[in-house]
Amino acid sequence: MIPSIPPIQNPERYSEFNLPREKVEAALNEAFKKVDLGIEHHGFKFPNEYSKNNVYATIENTSGWGNGFWSGILWHAYQLTGDEKYKNVVIGQIPSYTKRITEKIGVNHHDMGFLFSLSCVAAWKLCGNEEAKAAALMAAEHLTTRYRTPGDFIQAWGNVNDPKDNRLIIDCLLNIPLLYWASEVTGDQKYDEMAWKHFNTTISVCCRPDASTYHTYYFDAETGAPVKGVTHQGAFDESAWARGQAWGIYGPMLTRTYKESDGAMQVFKATSSYFLNHLPEDYVPFWDLCFTDGADEPRDTSSAAIACCGMLEALKHMDKADPLYSIFTNAVNRIMNSLIDNYTSKDVPEANGLLLHQTYAKPQGIGIDEMNIWGDYFYMEALHRLVDPDWKLYW
Ligand code: GLY
Repeated sequence: MIPSIPPIQNPERYSEFNLPREKVEAALNEAFKKVDLGIEHHGFKFPNEYSKNNVYATIENTSGWGNGFWSGILWHAYQLTGDEKYKNVVIGQIPSYTKRITEKIGVNHHDMGFLFSLSCVAAWKLCGNEEAKAAALMAAEHLTTRYRTPGDFIQAWGNVNDPKDNRLIIDCLLNIPLLYWASEVTGDQKYDEMAWKHFNTTISVCCRPDASTYHTYYFDAETGAPVKGVTHQGAFDESAWARGQAWGIYGPMLTRTYKESDGAMQVFKATSSYFLNHLPEDYVPFWDLCFTDGADEPRDTSSAAIACCGMLEALKHMDKADPLYSIFTNAVNRIMNSLIDNYTSKDVPEANGLLLHQTYAKPQGIGIDEMNIWGDYFYMEALHRLVDPDWKLYW
């Protein structure tokens, strides 16, 4: 369902707040130092999805869903500094993306957008790199093989058509921009249609009436009927996993950039209002929004950064007279200010990433209170958006 927008509780928490440009630029300068350290450690390879004691190990481009974030960080560093060394690293990585999708290495899942939008689509958009474009189009084609009918959604995990894996997850809202883009560059509408149907199916099942979200949703394999919402990385099935909620904030705005959908804007306003209503005092969420001040639980700073990217995108499309315009503007400033002041790695010399206190998967015991490469990416994207509101999306 398209939820109604919950009123902002305690709107004074989102009263006027200035985040000076110099502070954002200083944060970016600190980030570049960490990106340089990452390049020293990983060369043309990649950081693992999550750190151990705030140090990312180096991995090949053969598994997981995180490598695109590192390439994306390098693209931001390149655009912001003009220094070709960052571009040269990503260009050197492109053959590994081509090999991965051509030989279908570690791609039996839906995360083609996370992997290929920020690396290869960006390489195409920024440099006209034809190899990258071809790899991204192959990834889009591969993603279409996971489209399930009946049900009209992209199957997240497991072997395609396995009835026990007949579910979508809210995270996939950030994989479908790859499909919209594929339609744009090929003229073949099938990608766009699948993305749009998947978007609508996701919204219809994942958004609860109070604008919180389910992480995953199962469908009946025979009939395609929605069956039940279940969490995978959240605290419990009916809770709002912080990052899932953040995917439910930025995801609709990414669809909005391709589809000009009022429904997507309404979903964004609803999910982000819920998010803001559940932030603790320092504006940075715990790993599940059911926890608040005083909870002995880790944060997930990545959720804060993702939500800021969604709000910054939304502000470009909102009427300044909308009362939520100033709420979201000040929310971004307050959240980013808190991340910059309290959660970056600048005082941790060995840290080869950007943002501390992220949580990958608490129930599974993975990457808890560590750096996670996606949070680093979205922190960098949010900083880039703040210094350049006209930044053209890689998505
Ligand atoms: N897409 C997986 C995650 O957010 O952890």
